[in-house]
Amino acid sequence: MASAVTPDGTPPVISVRDISKIYDLGSTRVHALRHVDLDIHRGELIAVMGPSGSGKSTLMNIIGCLDQASEGDYWLDGVNVSDMTEDELARVRNRKMGFVFQQFNLLPRTSALRQVQLPMIYSGGEDRESRAIEALKAVGLGDRLDHKPTELSGGQQQRVAVARALVNNPTLIMADEPTGALDTRSGQELLAIFQRLNAQGKTIVMVTHEYDVAMHCRRIVRFKDGRLVADESVEQPLDALEELAKLPHFADEEDELAPSIEEAIS
Ligand SMILES: Nc1ncnc2c1ncn2[C@@H]1O[C@H](COP(=O)(O)OP(=O)(O)OP(=O)(O)O)[C@@H](O)[C@H]1O
Ligand SMILES: [Mg+2]
Repeated sequence: MASAVTPDGTPPVISVRDISKIYDLGSTRVHALRHVDLDIHRGELIAVMGPSGSGKSTLMNIIGCLDQASEGDYWLDGVNVSDMTEDELARVRNRKMGFVFQQFNLLPRTSALRQVQLPMIYSGGEDRESRAIEALKAVGLGDRLDHKPTELSGGQQQRVAVARALVNNPTLIMADEPTGALDTRSGQELLAIFQRLNAQGKTIVMVTHEYDVAMHCRRIVRFKDGRLVADESVEQPLDALEELAKLPHFADEEDELAPSIEEAIS
């Protein structure tokens, strides 16, 4: 089957056709995804929602080329990646994907600058240090280059992870519950960064359990029992910078973070 094409003739960045994922555990078979069709176009910011176990991470793993479907086809940038070997998939992943996870997945005892340089070692990029510094500045961490994860707040650690995801200039940013471990303010700061990146043209797919988080996206898809059951557009997505401005300020709070985010991304 051919992948869908937009009216101007360009294929969607992601085109998933009739994908199913079955985990075979010997005595039982788990149908994690059932006959999923999904197109995502360049420049979308899309939320993936659904109850625990509904298949969200399974879908993210397939879209992110970390795993493959049992059945069906997946076109990425017009190329069918369904039957690629592990090595081919790894190359696609390094070139096109940036990942952000709920638990940050940073290396302990490693500075922010070094964490962000690491993806470029595999991709062979030049000017590693200056590009890593740029990426960290873009997430408001230009003054935290030498800090290790234990020397950063949760929100700052997640921003290091975003800088690491960005540094190879990926086609897609895949984020699986990126705000799940963050407090309200840090979550809003992360969403402000995502909205800024999206305004600059990045395509971002984000899993979330929180409706308030999803409402920052223009589109929300929902899964249930491995099936895609709803695909809705949001007329007026929330603006994370506006939401940040509305958060209460307490006199005793040392508030050096929020202004730096606003400066960094405006
Ligand atoms: N590696 C695996 N082996 C076997 N079964 C798995 C595996 N990974 C996921 N599953 C099963 O597939 C189904 C979908 O899991 P998935 O992790 O995609 O759910 P999810 O929507 O991301 O849930 P959560 O919101 O809790 O993260 C679940 O029933 C899960 O138990
Ligand atoms: Mg999950």
